[in-house]
Amino acid sequence: MSSSFKTFLKHAAKDFHNQSVNPPVVRASTIIFKSTKDIRKTQANAQKNPIGGHYDYARQGTSTTYILQKILTKLEESYNVFTTPTGFGAVFLAIFSVTRPGDEIIAADPLYSPTRILTENFLKDFNIKTTFYNPHDLKSLEKNITKKTKLIFVENPGSNSFDFQDLGKILSIAKKNKILTAMDNTWGTPYFLKPIKLGFDMSIVSATKYYSGHSDVMGGSLAVSKKVFSKVKAAERITGLRLGPDDAYLITRGLRTLDVRLDRHRENSEKVAKFLSRFKNIKLLYPYKKGSYNYKMWKKYYSGASGLMGLKIKCKNISSVRKFVNSLKLFGYGYSWGGFESLVLHQEHREIGTRKFFKLAKDEHLVRLHIGLEDPSDLIADIKQALKHLK
Ligand SMILES: Cc1ncc(COP(=O)(O)O)c(C=O)c1O
Repeated sequence: MSSSFKTFLKHAAKDFHNQSVNPPVVRASTIIFKSTKDIRKTQANAQKNPIGGHYDYARQGTSTTYILQKILTKLEESYNVFTTPTGFGAVFLAIFSVTRPGDEIIAADPLYSPTRILTENFLKDFNIKTTFYNPHDLKSLEKNITKKTKLIFVENPGSNSFDFQDLGKILSIAKKNKILTAMDNTWGTPYFLKPIKLGFDMSIVSATKYYSGHSDVMGGSLAVSKKVFSKVKAAERITGLRLGPDDAYLITRGLRTLDVRLDRHRENSEKVAKFLSRFKNIKLLYPYKKGSYNYKMWKKYYSGASGLMGLKIKCKNISSVRKFVNSLKLFGYGYSWGGFESLVLHQEHREIGTRKFFKLAKDEHLVRLHIGLEDPSDLIADIKQALKHLK
């Protein structure tokens, strides 16, 4: 990432708003116009320039959401960005925008659970079928392509398994078969990888995580190519999936330090990974050790790594794993990640769900760590004392 971009993030709101350092929070439902002529002019401008900045009603946003959209559009190097009330809202909007009854989706096997439930179960009732491919065997993706395939949905790395895929190969398969593509890029964010620049049509980020960075707001972002812009715009209007101005403000505020925080998350994670790699009963699911396929694929496409990692722990006794997790003092136990603080989650076997290509043996257990911005030596000392419970 060029230093100019780091500078842009610090001054981002000012670039689109030239008064105070921070943009004002414009809360609105009704927008008042001087006359009928004035409202017609705004509506005509909105037709001429659908990218935004012309509102006749605040469900379409206000200047606060518009500033965030502009910043994210630059960060993603995309045609435009839609902002949604949650990250999952962005996943839904991406899929809803481009698929219709009778269509088929091909998705990577390791997916964020709600995305898996949406594609595998919920959409079935709307006659939209999803098949899943092995992230490390793209022949299994090609095999699933039919005339009805509309969308390839990728999450990289995959939730739980942390599989990294050959994104370039996926894109060339999609291009050859004229299939649209979407990628959930919450883990890397466009600071480390820009899916639209790489060739994806849609790029999803849960802004709840690193964008806001302070665990105090939810939001989502859907960056789009020019090709799908009007489809997503139409779907956005019909679903009313729009981020509110207070949340947009908090996410804009978080973005100023995105690069600083992510660099530190990576630094801390590398130290923790180095420590954990000494233990034979722990398989690290994180791009740290050279030589593996996952490491190669990460290196090929990313300029850095964030703070979320998995530990596949070999242990006969589940209560020892629970004891390990419960003994951590600096890691809060709970869902989500991407904030300044460290978190831990024991992902029990039932949570792995219906995944075909990621299985846990009876004596294997999955623990997810989010490495926060604390002093890494404190985090390592905490993990060290908790590991004593792993028998
Ligand atoms: C990879 C991934 N995508 C999307 C989401 C959904 O984001 P949100 O919680 O903001 O709805 C999550 C949430 O954990 C996630 O981990």
